[in-house]
Amino acid sequence: MPNFNIKASKYDSASEPQAELAMELFELSLDYLPDTLPILLDVGCGTGHLSLDLAGLFPKRLDCLDISKEMLEICREKLQVNFPNVKWRLFENDAESFEPDIKYDGIYCNATLQWFADVPKFLSRVKKWLKPNGILCIGAFGEKTLCELRSAYFEAAGRQLETAAKFFSLDKLTEFSKKAGFDLLEFSECIYVQDFEEPAFALKTLGKMGVTGTGKKPLTRSEAQKLKEILANASFSWELMAMIFRAKECPYFP
Ligand SMILES: C[S@@+](CC[C@H](N)C(=O)[O-])C[C@H]1O[C@@H](n2cnc3c(N)ncnc32)[C@H](O)[C@@H]1O
Repeated sequence: MPNFNIKASKYDSASEPQAELAMELFELSLDYLPDTLPILLDVGCGTGHLSLDLAGLFPKRLDCLDISKEMLEICREKLQVNFPNVKWRLFENDAESFEPDIKYDGIYCNATLQWFADVPKFLSRVKKWLKPNGILCIGAFGEKTLCELRSAYFEAAGRQLETAAKFFSLDKLTEFSKKAGFDLLEFSECIYVQDFEEPAFALKTLGKMGVTGTGKKPLTRSEAQKLKEILANASFSWELMAMIFRAKECPYFP
């Protein structure tokens, strides 16, 4: 996983696809939240793209969780300025070992799952954090994400792009969620195209997001040059998938 503490200050200027996905996920989830003021959790809240939307619902409580102190600090500043009267708490913690002290009506996880070591295990754990009828809202990048970069990289370097990010298909995530005891209530999918004026800037931006620059073997100068030439007029596709799940109503489900 990239070091998000280093990336935090640059994240907001580089994260259009994540912001777009956050907005889509938020809107899709609204029909499934209870009529009463909800208790909400934002897992991997980052600098707060989604947390701010959630705070705007004036929830009974909003918990924001992230492994990166610096990301949380930016989220804190935004919440303090925009929503001083909402009851929010920030947790600096690893979502894969976090143990909440309350149950939630809605758990959100946007653009974060790709960094987890064990997604099926996370889904099984998170199910226990929900109130009966609570929803799990996942915003994830699909397998087609950055396909242009992958093929250009392969052409330039003769090897696969190394990235710590794991992109799953909608079917795969649905299968993981089913096994963890969730039903898919609704989803939306689209391709978001991010255009860059020049490839060097595109590669820098992806580095700021933590998508590239995680490989053990960096590109040589001539490979990097070839990559830039192949990527001239760079446009990158992001497969955005917003999914709303509810835990199965089965008393015998383990
Ligand atoms: C791409 S950012 C997405 C942030 C935010 N959800 C958004 O929509 O912009 C991924 C975030 O997940 C956090 N993260 C990665 N692995 C994590 C983990 N195991 N536990 C908690 N947070 C994690 C990173 O620190 C980073 O802030």
